[in-house]
Amino acid sequence: MIRIDSVTKRYPDGTVAVDRLSLEIPDRSITVLVGPSGCGKTTTLRMINRMVEPTEGTILLDGEDIQRQPVTTLRRSMGYVIQNAGLFQHRTIVDNIATVPRMLGWGKQRARERAVELMERVGLDTSLAKRYPYQLSGGQQQRVGVARALAADPPVLLMDEPFSAVDPVVRKGLQEELLRIQGELGKTIVFVTHDIDEAVTLGTMVAVLREGGRLAQYAPPAELLSTPADGFVEDFLGADRGIRRLSFFPAAPLELSTDAVVPADAPAERIAAVGSPYLLVTGPDGRPLGWAERDRLTDGTVDTGRLLPYGRPFVPGADSLRVALDCAVLSPTGWAVAVDADGRVTGVVSQRTIGEAIRAAHSAGRAEDEKVAG
Ligand SMILES: Nc1ncnc2c1ncn2[C@@H]1O[C@H](COP(=O)(O)OP(=O)(O)OP(=O)(O)O)[C@@H](O)[C@H]1O
Ligand SMILES: [Mg+2]
Repeated sequence: MIRIDSVTKRYPDGTVAVDRLSLEIPDRSITVLVGPSGCGKTTTLRMINRMVEPTEGTILLDGEDIQRQPVTTLRRSMGYVIQNAGLFQHRTIVDNIATVPRMLGWGKQRARERAVELMERVGLDTSLAKRYPYQLSGGQQQRVGVARALAADPPVLLMDEPFSAVDPVVRKGLQEELLRIQGELGKTIVFVTHDIDEAVTLGTMVAVLREGGRLAQYAPPAELLSTPADGFVEDFLGADRGIRRLSFFPAAPLELSTDAVVPADAPAERIAAVGSPYLLVTGPDGRPLGWAERDRLTDGTVDTGRLLPYGRPFVPGADSLRVALDCAVLSPTGWAVAVDADGRVTGVVSQRTIGEAIRAAHSAGRAEDEKVAG
């Protein structure tokens, strides 16, 4: 949908903010521009809605040069969200969100109804509608900024460090909200951040820019983590990239063992048949109660008053290998507990089995990369 074709931006003082940048921005997905301060992220974003005009090169929207489109038409098709939301301080929340529809000539009532609908969509309590921006928290203001950008239902959303002014917990909530909204509305989002974790969490594609506005790498996040193009990208990704990459592999293929899972009232013969040194004890509802050490059982039966904590379980169908590994590492026995969506135990898995699954996933990933490269 958006194609940036060898675009350069040289400001009048000679600063080259963007240097021969080419990017194909896929439809209905989130493309993240990430890189250190001053690498040309904001300039690139602003060239997409012509707040900044390129010095050289072209930007195509649906195959058409944006230079040939009237600026107002172009901007109407693109919502814009900035850090600190940039709300109109003298307008209520509902009127802030209704700004663009009102500009487009919608009636007051219809615009307000739309605004209230959007408040719900972005996870804002509609009781806040009549407040002014200063009466909201930073995270709430940021949600209003997103709602305002969505008000006229533009196909494209440009977001410039929208979540960087809020604390990490609120930020995580906003990121989850954005992914949910994206899943529901299928917007084409270009998202600027200097936080690589945010880029990896949100991006379908991630463009890493370096100083001088040059593209260092453009790839899906999992590929960025497995095969950084050079030392700059590798440094920028930071530590733990191997562990972080595990987020992209599902836990579903893990082979679970049920041999060591026993109900609290299991008879001594059943318990004696368990081969491992630990038993995962479950309650009548099938949920985990805790681990029992086989050597310390009295009369060969379970004493539910003396169990070790089972830690945090994972859900194979929904969680990644990273979550499964984390559960195993945190477990007192080194085994992770798998549960279904209702919290009932479906099996347990050792660190060793998870390690094997990680190696298998990595070699499958490498084969995939080679196929793409070849
Ligand atoms: N109007 C301007 N005139 C001259 N130079 C500018 C202008 N706007 C930006 N620049 C320069 O262009 C380069 C890229 O700026 P830009 O704002 O695009 O960076 P950025 O990646 O968004 O940085 P940050 O992460 O700090 O927001 C910087 O060196 C900046 O100083
Ligand atoms: Mg910027």
